Amino acid sequence: MKILAIETSCDETAIAILENLGILSSVVLSQIKIHKPFGGVVPNLAQREHQKNLVPILKLALKESGLLKAGEQKIKNLDKKLEKILEREPVLLQKFKNEVLKIKKPRIDAIALTHGPGLEPALWVGINFAKALSEVWEIPIIPVNHLEGHIYSNWLKDKNNPRAGTPRFPLLALIVSGGHTEIVLMKKDCDYKILGETRDDAAGEAFDKVAKMLKLGYPGGPLISKLAEKGNPDKVNFPRPMINSSDFDFSFSGLKTAVLYKLREDNNLKKIKKYKTDVAASFEQAVVDVLVKKTEKALKVCNVKSLVVGGGVAANKKLRASLQNMVKNKYPGVSLWLSPMWLTGDNAAMIGAAAYFKFAKLGKAAYINPSKLMAKGNLGL
Ligand code: KG4
Ligand code: ZN
Repeated sequence: MKILAIETSCDETAIAILENLGILSSVVLSQIKIHKPFGGVVPNLAQREHQKNLVPILKLALKESGLLKAGEQKIKNLDKKLEKILEREPVLLQKFKNEVLKIKKPRIDAIALTHGPGLEPALWVGINFAKALSEVWEIPIIPVNHLEGHIYSNWLKDKNNPRAGTPRFPLLALIVSGGHTEIVLMKKDCDYKILGETRDDAAGEAFDKVAKMLKLGYPGGPLISKLAEKGNPDKVNFPRPMINSSDFDFSFSGLKTAVLYKLREDNNLKKIKKYKTDVAASFEQAVVDVLVKKTEKALKVCNVKSLVVGGGVAANKKLRASLQNMVKNKYPGVSLWLSPMWLTGDNAAMIGAAAYFKFAKLGKAAYINPSKLMAKGNLGL
């Protein structure tokens, strides 16, 4: 099965082509530079950039997978139909007419598409683009939850990722991203039971906010973790919110406030580089301690065969090493699957992988009538 996957839920414009779970091409264009001056993602700018970039990225992805060939479309009233579908995306409409209509229909079985959660203006661009492609090439659409994508990034095969085997059920999934922190129990494919989630800020959000306080820039996670490498994680004893609570929920907003108060208290030290590295390392340690402890607690009560970890924060080296240690020492029978570094952040290959399993489970019932597609900003698993 060949799947063309589209991801535009936030500030990455991404298209991938999969042959079953093998990645034929995966193109990700990050908009970090555009949003950086604003200290975070600006939805309207993201929408504009997705419009500009989807067609060139589609062509690159098709080219890399050997599917880009010149051709023509012979569908009645196509211009009118496209104008209706892309009426809110004039820039994309123009590029679509000029370029996509000159591509021969590729051998693709389904379009996988993120329909939520995420920024709605950004999601809509991907949705309308998928609808237009579906119309022109007569290919069905499989809607995918972005969080399913982060989980299923652990099943992808690629020449850079020659891992043998796959995670086994029942399993626990830890999703740690900019918008979500969740521990999920999966007894089988596409079957999700949320055991715990954040009550306020997500882990990545806390990294981003603390990076702002330390005037490091955006996005904060990679910058904090780089700085933290040189710092002393025991220097400041930040709180570990809810670490001993009887549930599997998280809360990172109190930790963020504790960092704010600490910086205010030590106002005169803020300019000293060493001080900043110690605060970054101590903050990172607090987040990692909570994530690992809660995951360990979930492993204790759920008799699972695998633990899979995905989402932007899964790129954090300290988190990866701490999870590896914890599993090795306490649950050696559980196989740990950390999303490969280059698939931790947002990408379309993971959306294709989730669609692959949705189709395997539901067959054609996984397809959606394109006219029913909606951007679902708060879509849950
Ligand atoms: O999954 P993702 O790319 O987008 C969402 O779905 O939200 O996650 C982005 C988040 C950001 O908050 C970013 O700061 C964080 O992942 N992140 C990290 C690291 N790399 C990215 N957090 C901690 N350490 C990192 N190395
Ligand atoms: Zn994400």
